[in-house]
Amino acid sequence: MPNQKQKIIIANWKMNPASFIEAENLLKTIKSGIKKSDNLKIVICPPAVYLPKMKPNSNFDLGIQNIFWEDKGAYTGEISAPIAKKLGANYAIIGHSERRIYLNETDEMVNKKIKAALKNNLKPILCIGETLEEKNQDKTSEIISSQLKSALKNISKFQVPSSKFYVAYEPIWAIGTGETPTSNEVMSAALLIRKIIAGLYDRQTADNLSILYGGSVTGKNALDFLDNAGMNGLLVGGASLNGSEFARIVNLI
Ligand code: 13P
Repeated sequence: MPNQKQKIIIANWKMNPASFIEAENLLKTIKSGIKKSDNLKIVICPPAVYLPKMKPNSNFDLGIQNIFWEDKGAYTGEISAPIAKKLGANYAIIGHSERRIYLNETDEMVNKKIKAALKNNLKPILCIGETLEEKNQDKTSEIISSQLKSALKNISKFQVPSSKFYVAYEPIWAIGTGETPTSNEVMSAALLIRKIIAGLYDRQTADNLSILYGGSVTGKNALDFLDNAGMNGLLVGGASLNGSEFARIVNLI
């Protein structure tokens, strides 16, 4: 059953904090605040330049917030999957809506990045979700379906076993706004995601997939998504920049 899988809580620090000293302090607060739980994986995704100094331990692993799709070459400013691995990342957030919006990242680029991550043994956390306008036009299912199918184009089921691939449902209108979907809406999105995965691959792959929710997650609402909506994990932005709040979320599990 999907709900009984190991839960995963991912901190997406985005372009924060402003210095490594602050990042170190934040990490210290998180580390000292969390109680150990065997049924839990914590992944911190800091700005890439902080990765080599972050020293993961048995309590947490590291992820990168983005990668480029080629392994090397003349791509000024980009970070490849092999470089990300060498920096210490084991996970890669791919297709975050902020990159789709501010950097014009397309479904095609997302697909290439997922392939690059899988090839280099980085576990992709694929972000999908609709805008407020799309939600109001009842296009949520259409958007989820097209983003998911494009992202997985020409990727076989053997490349996306449950331990190596995650999908995060992040409605764009819920990111950083304090607005959240109801647990029923999140559950419907997750059901749809599993249905699409079952159609692309098979039922077992769909059942085994870990689906995360992201968008204005706090210590107050986290359990609603985990317990009531049955999510396998959370992708936390703003609240992960407050060490004790993030620890509070983690300690709910
Ligand atoms: P907030 O938790 O700040 O809404 O951000 C969510 C997010 O974008 C995580 O990737």
